[in-house]
Amino acid sequence: MLSYIGRSSQLAPTLKGSAQAVASGLRNTVVPGAFEEAAVVVQPLPLLLTTTAMAKRCPTGPIKAKAGIAASSQVRYAHTDIQVPDFGAYRRDDVKDSRSKAGESASSRRSFTYMLVGGGTVGGIYSAKSVVTQFVSTMSATADVLALAKIEIKLDDIPEGKSVTFKWRGKPLFVRHRTDEEIETEGNVDVASLRDPEHDSIRCTDPKWLVVLGVCTHLGCVPIADAGDFGGYYCPCHGSHYDAAGRIRKGPAPLNLEVPVHIFTDDLLIVG
Ligand code: FES
Repeated sequence: MLSYIGRSSQLAPTLKGSAQAVASGLRNTVVPGAFEEAAVVVQPLPLLLTTTAMAKRCPTGPIKAKAGIAASSQVRYAHTDIQVPDFGAYRRDDVKDSRSKAGESASSRRSFTYMLVGGGTVGGIYSAKSVVTQFVSTMSATADVLALAKIEIKLDDIPEGKSVTFKWRGKPLFVRHRTDEEIETEGNVDVASLRDPEHDSIRCTDPKWLVVLGVCTHLGCVPIADAGDFGGYYCPCHGSHYDAAGRIRKGPAPLNLEVPVHIFTDDLLIVG
């Protein structure tokens, strides 16, 4: 009897796989080639960009160098392939050479630094002073006001025995060229009898000249010169009489006429 055994190398694993259903100790239950291998996917490591994550990578203890078969090959903490800009143009000549000692040029470098700081300080102070001066000058009187602040009067133009009125700072100014008789009369007045006691010599630094503001001390009227009971000034508003020294002698005015600050030069009177 003939028996035929057909073998196909192509279909053998499949046929064997379908034929072998019971596991045995000699053969695997799963036939190789019956299933496709799953592709292994490797997930990339997450980027460690936070300070905490990066801090974990930094060495925390003293760095040790190891050598041997089992030791890791290399750990690099410094890179020499980074391009560092050349700052030589900004460095002082004394320290351009990396082999020179800094201590040898310290004094000269300090001198330069002190000179630079000192010069800057002086310049800063001068600038601050200019700014403050200009700021303060804006609050002072203008040139036209300053021009009016002073008045120069030629004394030769005022005859003896006459009182001339000038305008000074918006107010009338009386300048009286007194006679010898007036000087003697006013000098002999009993100061104790005056309402506003003031000696003639105090009011008139030069006895020949009386310089007073023409503003009545009662309510501010302008008195009339060469009038009144005492030969000086008379205020018609309420009847105040001033003498030839500008002192109140009669009437409601409480005080003498005001004597402004003034000086005499050769032939000039300067008020203000
Ligand atoms: S204002 Fe001169 S007396 Fe009154």
